Amino acid sequence: MQKEVLRHKTINAEILDIAAKYTNDPEAVLEVLLELHALRGVLKEDDVGDVARALSIPAERAFGISTFYSMLQAPKTTIRVCDGPACWLKGAGDILSTYKAQSLESDLDSERSSCLGLCDLAPAVLVGEMQRGPSDIKHVAEVGEDRNGRIPKYDHPVQGEKRILLQHAEDIDPYNIDSAIEFGAYQALKKALAEPKEKIIEELETSGLRGRGGAGFPVGKKWRFVAEAKSDEKFIICNADESEPLTFKDRVLMDANPHKILEGILLAGYAVGAQDGFIYIRGEYTSQAKKLETAIQQAEEKGWLGENIQGSEFSFHIHLHRGAGAYICGEESALIESLEGKRGEPRIRPPYPASYGYHGEPTIVNNVESFAYAPEIVNHGGNWFLSIGNQTMSGTKLFTLLGHINRPGLFEAPYGITLRKAIEEFGDGMSPGSNFHFALTGGAAGTIVSSEYLDTPIDGSSIDKGLALGSGAILICDQTVSPLEMLRELMFFFEVESCGKCTPCRIGTRNARIALDRMVAGKKSNGDAKALLNLAELLKNSSFCGLGQSAAMPILSAVSNFEQLFL
Ligand SMILES: Cc1cc2nc3c(=O)[nH]c(=O)nc-3n(C[C@H](O)[C@H](O)[C@H](O)COP(=O)(O)O)c2cc1C
Ligand code: SF4
Ligand code: FES
Repeated sequence: MQKEVLRHKTINAEILDIAAKYTNDPEAVLEVLLELHALRGVLKEDDVGDVARALSIPAERAFGISTFYSMLQAPKTTIRVCDGPACWLKGAGDILSTYKAQSLESDLDSERSSCLGLCDLAPAVLVGEMQRGPSDIKHVAEVGEDRNGRIPKYDHPVQGEKRILLQHAEDIDPYNIDSAIEFGAYQALKKALAEPKEKIIEELETSGLRGRGGAGFPVGKKWRFVAEAKSDEKFIICNADESEPLTFKDRVLMDANPHKILEGILLAGYAVGAQDGFIYIRGEYTSQAKKLETAIQQAEEKGWLGENIQGSEFSFHIHLHRGAGAYICGEESALIESLEGKRGEPRIRPPYPASYGYHGEPTIVNNVESFAYAPEIVNHGGNWFLSIGNQTMSGTKLFTLLGHINRPGLFEAPYGITLRKAIEEFGDGMSPGSNFHFALTGGAAGTIVSSEYLDTPIDGSSIDKGLALGSGAILICDQTVSPLEMLRELMFFFEVESCGKCTPCRIGTRNARIALDRMVAGKKSNGDAKALLNLAELLKNSSFCGLGQSAAMPILSAVSNFEQLFL
């Protein structure tokens, strides 16, 4: 009877309109839910049911999605206060408590959030779509105002930087394709279109370019797999999910020069014979999504995207897809599930996306920064790129450097720099009164290292020495911060962001956080340190995907480098 009533209930007209905009495509369920959430400010159960019926999908699938992504769960006006490592260091806990106290007197909601990709504005908040920071307790009431919330652009290099990707950042207007073209945009594509396709992959292989999203897989090798795969349809995916705590390099690139990213995706499409590409951008990056949207539209108008690009036989389209708040959607197979309109839960790998990706077809998934290097390599040659960096890792890297230093932010430098050089040269030294205590390198899925690592080169082999490079994030902590407390914050992050699909990660991260709660409170029992190490081994060896596996890294490194704190 109940089912009968539902079937005949009229679907809300607004929802029908939104669904029609997406041609009632069941895969567009996340976009439809996001747009509805933006329109109504909140998602109601009835509306989710209507979305399911408008897209002809089972209601449980729509509900499964609406409850998976954090941005869909809270009202749109909710102030999201980041409690990621950089913001935590700067008192985010007190700021959230102040908001919570204020919420009792006003109708503004507030809640904690994992890293917002605004670490250089720490403590950062998201007010609706507005990216704001640094927030301070005295001015919490003014959070919606643009007090000093200008997002840093890193237009000018600091001394010692070597810029490839951020060259001309000060000259290019990201909203104007002509200014990008004036500084070289689409020249690499033009060159590639006049040469055999094979040349692009050869140059990438020569360059030694490795993925900049964290795992460091050779980019040329991945493109070759897909180029050689026998299939009528192939896809390119640009991973702009950027949710690794302390990482905001892709945001800076999208803000500075969106056309460089589009050109990299186009080169991949041309090299492997694909016709469609996607940019999966985290939902919180609204202003960056607008820049990309404008860039796509302008590139289409100028004939650099779309059918028969610049009169050639090459046709290619780029589609922008927004995420909705889930760290796991940066993992490539979870990202593809999300793109296909499902909950962002990882797939078993192998098969890897290069052979079984979007819709089961050969698919390249690369990070934003990885794509952005491709035009430079095609323009200047693989050997030129290979000559920069060191033997373990060629080229430059965008590093984010945060914490107790004088000049937190982002810089571009060749691989091989050390923590000491990063602090002294790019960070302008430790903050007044601060002494180096430890660093968290590579993001939350990284390592907690002591001063013994100050002179270890950060490159492709540093992980073998116990220092993770990951996505290039570095947090410097002084004597006021305990590695134990930092580790507790990281475990809390993994616990919250675990997708829950497998038990070792779902329960393991929780139990690790509980053990650390006790240790931080000074109530550790004799077996806690051993239990923590056992949990780390369990996470590393038995988790289904990289999230749970890498949650072990900060535990193992902290215990190894600061053993006395755990005994
Ligand atoms: C939990 C998790 C989150 C990830 N998040 C991102 C991300 O935000 N951006 C990214 O490029 N890669 C991320 N990755 C790595 C991707 O799975 C994949 O390796 C990468 O996009 C490949 O691109 P690259 O080779 O150019 O680095 C993540 C991996 C895991 C396990
Ligand atoms: S390891 Fe964690 S994030 Fe990965 S599938 Fe298991 S529960 Fe999900
Ligand atoms: S925005 Fe807060 S840690 Fe990244």
